[in-house]
Amino acid sequence: MYLTKEEEKILDGEYGEIKEKMFRILVVIGDIYGADRMIPVSSCQISGVSYKSIGEYGLEFLESISEKGARVVVPSYLNPAGVDLKLWKQLGYPENFARKQMRIVRAFRKMGIYPTLTCTPYLIGNIPRFGEHLAWAESSAVSFANSVIGARTNREGAISALASSICGVTPNYGLHLEENRKPDVIVNINTELNEISDFGLLGYYLGRVLKNRIPYLRGIKFATTDHLKALGAAMAATGSIALYHVEDLTPEARNFKLENLEKFSVDEEELKEEKERFSGEDLDAVMIGCPHASLNEIKEISALVKGKKLRKPLWIFTSRFVKKLSVDTGLSRIIEKAGGKIISDTCMVVSPIEEMGFKVVGVNSGKAANYLPNLCGCRVVFGSLKELIEMII
Ligand code: F3S
Repeated sequence: MYLTKEEEKILDGEYGEIKEKMFRILVVIGDIYGADRMIPVSSCQISGVSYKSIGEYGLEFLESISEKGARVVVPSYLNPAGVDLKLWKQLGYPENFARKQMRIVRAFRKMGIYPTLTCTPYLIGNIPRFGEHLAWAESSAVSFANSVIGARTNREGAISALASSICGVTPNYGLHLEENRKPDVIVNINTELNEISDFGLLGYYLGRVLKNRIPYLRGIKFATTDHLKALGAAMAATGSIALYHVEDLTPEARNFKLENLEKFSVDEEELKEEKERFSGEDLDAVMIGCPHASLNEIKEISALVKGKKLRKPLWIFTSRFVKKLSVDTGLSRIIEKAGGKIISDTCMVVSPIEEMGFKVVGVNSGKAANYLPNLCGCRVVFGSLKELIEMII
């Protein structure tokens, strides 16, 4: 890979041990994937924040590099942590876990990383422009940035995103290159999609079937930001799809020739079968906000619970920013009056919910449906917001 004189100096240790090590990681990745050079990135989204995911070793590593002077050089944002930093006691999170989590967030802050603690940076003002190069690690945000915005990022790991935030560059390969962004399968969708859960279910199914291919989706007549965030998150979870195109909807959809592409179709029956795998009614809780809920989702929930009393916990995960808006608009008061809670900084997957007694959880997210059984040992009941709320009223 071609390196500039300045980059050679980094490798020679002229800018300190941490920067050298981090840059070396990027060079190794670039060599493995055949990158020709490094390119500047305009922002980084850093995963591996929850103590549940990174454990003692990760905590020690982050504290050690922050002490040794690691500092970011581009705007960098944090994925959700393992607890709500303000409400952890009230919600019953284990104290030892919460204290370790706070040390992790402190270490990241010391490096200059914004403690946004959300997987939806694009809902709180960090909206890249079309064509901008990024180093984002959160798979649902990667999918959104690539597909809905037309920005360019590979699906980074926790360490490679951190390395990019400290060095300001990423190796030029994969989805940074135009030729790797073309669709390789056409998916005809022969069923109506209305709810966020419909898009989540479709994503769950497509990820399982298509693995890491780039689909060109036809037949989606209308989709909101919330629909697309649910679709992409689920495809990235059950498969490793980091980019998709939707005919007449996403910005790069018309850039590519579609001749000779394999075709594949999805109809109502397939999605119905997929949903039936997650049926049942005996819930311990309903958990919404994977990816983190938007204000519109919170509004929809508040309309469903207004004036009602919930029999089981309803936890809605979102960013601090959106939570504040929900307080200012009075939506959170309606939800709390019904017995629900709006929780920020964390989510159902990276929180230690298995230690908190939750065994069967209702979700409307394809990504959560994939991860809760694997990472939290929970059984999942899948439904639309309305169906789930009805189960706990
Ligand atoms: Fe976000 Fe947690 Fe889901 S990080 S995408 S809410 S698993």
